[in-house]
Amino acid sequence: RAPLDVVCEISYVMVKPDGVQRGLVGEIIGRFERKGFKLKALQMRKCTREIAEEHYKDLKEKPFFKDLVDYILSGPVVAMVWEGNGVVASARKLIGATNPLNAEPGTIRGDLAIQTGRNVVHGSDSPDNGERETGLWFQGDATVEWSQTIQPWLT
Ligand code: TYD
Repeated sequence: RAPLDVVCEISYVMVKPDGVQRGLVGEIIGRFERKGFKLKALQMRKCTREIAEEHYKDLKEKPFFKDLVDYILSGPVVAMVWEGNGVVASARKLIGATNPLNAEPGTIRGDLAIQTGRNVVHGSDSPDNGERETGLWFQGDATVEWSQTIQPWLT
Protein backbone atom coordinates (compact mmCIF):
# COMPACT_ATOMS: atom_id res chain seq x y z
CA ARG A 1 0.00 0.00 0.00
CA ALA A 2 1.34 3.45 -0.91
CA PRO A 3 2.15 5.63 2.09
CA LEU A 4 -0.22 8.49 2.80
CA ASP A 5 1.04 11.91 1.82
CA VAL A 6 2.37 13.94 4.70
CA VAL A 7 -0.03 16.82 5.19
CA CYS A 8 1.22 20.15 6.46
CA GLU A 9 -0.41 22.69 4.17
CA ILE A 10 -3.35 24.93 5.01
CA SER A 11 -5.37 27.44 3.03
CA TYR A 12 -7.44 30.28 4.44
CA VAL A 13 -10.77 30.22 2.60
CA MET A 14 -13.51 32.77 3.17
CA VAL A 15 -17.07 33.03 1.97
CA LYS A 16 -17.38 36.75 1.27
CA PRO A 17 -20.46 38.80 2.29
CA ASP A 18 -22.24 38.29 -1.05
CA GLY A 19 -21.81 34.52 -0.72
CA VAL A 20 -23.30 34.60 2.78
CA GLN A 21 -26.14 36.90 1.70
CA ARG A 22 -26.95 34.69 -1.29
CA GLY A 23 -27.12 31.54 0.84
CA LEU A 24 -24.08 29.90 -0.75
CA VAL A 25 -22.22 28.93 2.44
CA GLY A 26 -23.31 25.30 2.36
CA GLU A 27 -22.64 24.98 -1.36
CA ILE A 28 -19.09 26.31 -0.95
CA ILE A 29 -18.23 24.27 2.15
CA GLY A 30 -19.66 21.20 0.43
CA ARG A 31 -17.28 21.52 -2.50
CA PHE A 32 -14.25 21.50 -0.19
CA GLU A 33 -15.65 18.62 1.86
CA ARG A 34 -16.43 16.54 -1.22
CA LYS A 35 -12.96 17.17 -2.62
CA GLY A 36 -11.60 15.55 0.56
CA PHE A 37 -9.96 18.43 2.38
CA LYS A 38 -10.16 18.67 6.13
CA LEU A 39 -11.90 21.56 7.88
CA LYS A 40 -9.63 22.85 10.65
CA ALA A 41 -11.40 26.04 11.75
CA LEU A 42 -14.63 27.86 10.95
CA GLN A 43 -16.15 31.08 12.21
CA MET A 44 -18.87 33.41 10.99
CA ARG A 45 -18.03 37.02 11.79
CA LYS A 46 -18.12 40.65 10.78
CA CYS A 47 -14.52 41.76 10.62
CA THR A 48 -12.81 45.03 11.45
CA ARG A 49 -11.40 47.44 8.87
CA GLU A 50 -7.94 46.72 10.32
CA ILE A 51 -8.22 43.01 9.58
CA ALA A 52 -9.70 43.53 6.10
CA GLU A 53 -6.94 46.02 5.20
CA GLU A 54 -4.23 43.74 6.57
CA HIS A 55 -5.70 40.76 4.73
CA TYR A 56 -5.50 42.61 1.40
CA LYS A 57 -2.36 44.66 2.20
CA ASP A 58 -0.61 43.57 -1.03
CA LEU A 59 -3.38 45.38 -2.97
CA LYS A 60 -3.16 48.64 -0.98
CA GLU A 61 -2.02 50.68 -3.99
CA LYS A 62 -4.75 49.36 -6.31
CA PRO A 63 -7.56 51.72 -7.32
CA PHE A 64 -10.17 49.19 -6.17
CA PHE A 65 -8.64 48.73 -2.67
CA LYS A 66 -11.15 50.87 -0.76
CA ASP A 67 -14.16 49.35 -2.53
CA LEU A 68 -12.73 45.89 -1.87
CA VAL A 69 -12.33 46.55 1.86
CA ASP A 70 -15.80 48.14 2.07
CA TYR A 71 -17.24 45.05 0.37
CA ILE A 72 -15.55 42.70 2.87
CA LEU A 73 -16.98 44.87 5.68
CA SER A 74 -20.48 45.00 4.19
CA GLY A 75 -21.76 41.91 5.99
CA PRO A 76 -20.66 38.78 7.80
CA VAL A 77 -18.09 36.47 6.25
CA VAL A 78 -17.47 32.79 6.93
CA ALA A 79 -13.79 32.33 7.73
CA MET A 80 -12.35 28.84 7.34
CA VAL A 81 -9.08 26.96 7.41
CA TRP A 82 -8.81 23.89 5.19
CA GLU A 83 -5.93 21.42 5.38
CA GLY A 84 -4.61 18.88 2.94
CA ASN A 85 -1.86 17.97 0.57
CA GLY A 86 -1.70 20.67 -2.10
CA VAL A 87 -4.71 22.46 -0.64
CA VAL A 88 -3.58 25.97 -1.61
CA ALA A 89 -3.31 25.32 -5.35
CA SER A 90 -6.29 22.97 -5.34
CA ALA A 91 -8.51 25.50 -3.55
CA ARG A 92 -7.56 28.09 -6.18
CA LYS A 93 -8.65 25.61 -8.87
CA LEU A 94 -11.92 24.85 -7.10
CA ILE A 95 -12.54 28.61 -6.71
CA GLY A 96 -11.68 29.61 -10.30
CA ALA A 97 -10.40 32.80 -11.91
CA THR A 98 -10.67 36.16 -10.14
CA ASN A 99 -13.06 37.48 -12.79
CA PRO A 100 -16.00 35.06 -12.67
CA LEU A 101 -16.65 35.62 -16.37
CA ASN A 102 -13.25 34.03 -17.03
CA ALA A 103 -13.73 31.25 -14.48
CA GLU A 104 -14.35 27.79 -15.90
CA PRO A 105 -17.76 26.20 -15.44
CA GLY A 106 -17.43 23.71 -12.59
CA THR A 107 -15.52 26.17 -10.44
CA ILE A 108 -17.25 28.07 -7.64
CA ARG A 109 -16.89 31.44 -9.34
CA GLY A 110 -17.57 29.93 -12.78
CA ASP A 111 -20.82 28.44 -11.56
CA LEU A 112 -22.02 31.03 -9.07
CA ALA A 113 -20.75 34.55 -9.84
CA ILE A 114 -20.60 37.17 -12.58
CA GLN A 115 -18.58 40.11 -11.19
CA THR A 116 -14.95 40.46 -10.04
CA GLY A 117 -16.09 42.76 -7.24
CA ARG A 118 -18.64 40.17 -6.02
CA ASN A 119 -16.82 36.92 -6.54
CA VAL A 120 -18.21 35.14 -3.44
CA VAL A 121 -15.10 33.44 -2.09
CA HIS A 122 -11.43 33.93 -1.22
CA GLY A 123 -8.60 31.37 -1.15
CA SER A 124 -4.96 31.98 -0.17
CA ASP A 125 -2.59 32.36 -3.12
CA SER A 126 0.44 30.68 -1.48
CA PRO A 127 1.18 28.36 1.47
CA ASP A 128 2.88 31.30 3.22
CA ASN A 129 -0.28 33.40 2.81
CA GLY A 130 -2.32 30.42 4.04
CA GLU A 131 -0.38 30.60 7.31
CA ARG A 132 -0.40 34.41 7.42
CA GLU A 133 -4.13 34.79 6.76
CA THR A 134 -5.00 31.99 9.22
CA GLY A 135 -3.00 33.80 11.91
CA LEU A 136 -4.74 37.06 11.06
CA TRP A 137 -8.33 35.77 11.10
CA PHE A 138 -8.00 33.18 13.87
CA GLN A 139 -5.74 35.15 16.21
CA GLY A 140 -4.92 32.97 19.21
CA ASP A 141 -7.60 30.44 18.29
CA ALA A 142 -5.99 27.08 17.68
CA THR A 143 -7.19 25.10 14.72
CA VAL A 144 -8.99 21.91 15.74
CA GLU A 145 -7.22 18.56 15.75
CA TRP A 146 -9.48 15.73 14.66
CA SER A 147 -9.36 12.56 12.63
CA GLN A 148 -11.09 12.20 9.29
CA THR A 149 -12.79 8.82 9.04
CA ILE A 150 -14.34 9.28 5.61
CA GLN A 151 -11.62 7.49 3.66
CA PRO A 152 -12.28 3.78 4.18
CA TRP A 153 -10.51 3.00 0.92
CA LEU A 154 -7.24 3.83 2.67
CA THR A 155 -7.60 1.29 5.48
P1 TYD B 1 -6.67 39.06 -6.24
O1 TYD B 1 -5.86 38.67 -5.06
O2 TYD B 1 -5.96 39.56 -7.47
O3 TYD B 1 -7.64 37.86 -6.71
P2 TYD B 1 -8.11 36.50 -6.00
O4 TYD B 1 -9.24 36.84 -5.06
O5 TYD B 1 -8.59 35.65 -7.15
O6 TYD B 1 -6.92 35.92 -5.29
O7 TYD B 1 -7.72 40.22 -5.83
C1 TYD B 1 -8.36 40.13 -4.58
C2 TYD B 1 -9.77 40.60 -4.77
O8 TYD B 1 -9.79 41.95 -5.19
C3 TYD B 1 -10.55 39.85 -5.85
O9 TYD B 1 -11.08 38.63 -5.39
C4 TYD B 1 -11.62 40.85 -6.19
C5 TYD B 1 -10.93 42.19 -5.99
N1 TYD B 1 -10.53 42.78 -7.29
C6 TYD B 1 -11.28 43.83 -7.82
O10 TYD B 1 -12.27 44.25 -7.23
N2 TYD B 1 -10.90 44.37 -9.02
C7 TYD B 1 -9.83 43.90 -9.71
O11 TYD B 1 -9.53 44.44 -10.82
C8 TYD B 1 -9.05 42.82 -9.16
C9 TYD B 1 -7.85 42.27 -9.89
C10 TYD B 1 -9.44 42.29 -7.93
